[in-house]
Amino acid sequence: MKLKKGVLIVLEGIDGSGKSTQARRLVGALRRVGVDTAFFREPTRGPWGRLIRSKASRPRSLTAEEELFLFLLDRGDNVARNLRPALKRKQTVVLDRYYFSTIAYQGARGIGRDRIRRLNERFAPRPDLVFILDVPPERGLGRIAGRRRREPLFERRAFLRRVRRNFLAFRGPAFIHLDGRGDPRSIAAVIRARVFRLLKNVMTSSIPQRNAGKALDRE
Ligand code: ADP
Ligand code: TYD
Repeated sequence: MKLKKGVLIVLEGIDGSGKSTQARRLVGALRRVGVDTAFFREPTRGPWGRLIRSKASRPRSLTAEEELFLFLLDRGDNVARNLRPALKRKQTVVLDRYYFSTIAYQGARGIGRDRIRRLNERFAPRPDLVFILDVPPERGLGRIAGRRRREPLFERRAFLRRVRRNFLAFRGPAFIHLDGRGDPRSIAAVIRARVFRLLKNVMTSSIPQRNAGKALDRE
């Protein structure tokens, strides 16, 4: 299935909101209908991402500014090495977290959200769609209770309340807010429908492409 341009789809939400689950389902659905799809996540598995993860095991070992710049460095790598090349190849890119996480999380640590956005938009391509999965922090934390915890639960919960509020504040045509408490299959169906609708508008128009369009309708 040929597209006129690359397409960037982002999944966002607090810890345990279901981003990875939905990213996996979306990538599967796209590949099944023959859409050339790449998948990435932030923080990345690269050197900056690894540094971020190692620091995360010791809560508040970094100032908010240090955290901000590590995420910017990691994103700089991801944009240059992964996102831009994939978009240039006209792939559909599914991305688990992007600069809206920086606005929401580092914003919740007190950094101005407009400043964070400006720093990112100097180099990071704008996404076509941003799905924000919304769950109460108690629910998200409950789902990931088995994962190694970085700070006392009550502190994390209070912090994630602010992060959630920042996510809920995103407005504009690219943002789609979804209730993350539903069952994963229904959430996946809503995401898929929205993405397929977008892709139909980005497809090159030829007879085989029209058949591909029908495949998108059937899914
Ligand atoms: P995130 O990537 O946002 O941290 P995950 O997709 O890893 O979240 O999901 C965290 C946990 O919650 C996983 O065990 C996953 O199976 C489960 N989960 C994901 N989505 C849902 C959902 N809609 N309802 C119930 N459990 C879910
Ligand atoms: P991630 O590995 O995606 O964690 P999870 O699976 O719990 O969603 O991200 C690690 C942490 O990094 C997560 O708590 C969110 C945080 N983060 C930021 O604070 N700023 C950012 O810009 C990004 C991308 C992540």
